[in-house]
Amino acid sequence: MPEVDVVEEKEFFVHIPPPDQGFFLKGSAGYDWGMKNRLARIFNPATGRTVMLAFDHGYFQGPTSGLERIDLSIVPIAPRADALMLTRGVLRSVIPPSHRGGLVIRASGGPSILRELSNERLALDMEDAARMNASAVAVQVFVGGEFETQSVENLTRLVDAGYRFGIPVLGVTAVGRGLDRDSRYLGLATRMCAELGAQIVKTYHCDEGFERVVAGCPVPVVVAGGKKMPEQAALAMAHRAIQEGAAGVDMGRNVFQSPAPVAMLEALAKVVHEDMEPGDAYKLYKDLEKSHGSVGGYR
Ligand code: R5P
Repeated sequence: MPEVDVVEEKEFFVHIPPPDQGFFLKGSAGYDWGMKNRLARIFNPATGRTVMLAFDHGYFQGPTSGLERIDLSIVPIAPRADALMLTRGVLRSVIPPSHRGGLVIRASGGPSILRELSNERLALDMEDAARMNASAVAVQVFVGGEFETQSVENLTRLVDAGYRFGIPVLGVTAVGRGLDRDSRYLGLATRMCAELGAQIVKTYHCDEGFERVVAGCPVPVVVAGGKKMPEQAALAMAHRAIQEGAAGVDMGRNVFQSPAPVAMLEALAKVVHEDMEPGDAYKLYKDLEKSHGSVGGYR
């Protein structure tokens, strides 16, 4: 039996209004608690931004350079990212269950690089995503692709399942061959993903009009890295994207194919979370390269 509460004077602070229960992420105020909590494992609530490390490439292209041994290249650097983007196969076989950061698990796949890439199907059941404690699931959307409608249906089915479990969906705008990565195309693809229910959208940065792409997307946009470029250029691209409204980056090759992946992640974190200028971030990268060397580096 609990003891009787004998305090006569209780204090309910009646003059202090309850806290504003709004949520820090664009477009997310109406979600349920579990979905918000998962989003807060991907995006840092202090900045509203994220540095995601993508290494799901093997789902269609096998052992990508730098990912031959994920236990050696990625596991040592994984705790430095806000969230990981990966497949369930690698999660279960390689990533320690003690990992504490966000987990965005790939949920579409099918064709290899030898085939028509837009012909993806759903490749993950939401129940299994919940079992793995996923913070979100990711699906590729091929706007303008041969199997455009099929990939859009993958997204919408995943969003329906996600709401049953409180798991957000990251829509990834895949730009097929012959399509331009310009603001007109990216604006179309990102807006479609958001309108059809994605709670986060991943897309490429473009030189002209990216701020319009972000403004036209009612949910957070994270920027893809793409092919490896010099570290200075990758940091400059990330900085521009953030200043133009992106809520973070989701980079793979520009981190794990860098000679100093830890230094790259640290420099990206400064750009994303602290608005560090790209010149300063590159200097930081070079300084950290000396101290951390090639931890996680594949060469
Ligand atoms: C998108 O197509 C997939 O998620 C990729 O495997 C990944 O996001 C690509 O990352 P990055 O282009 O930065 O290497």
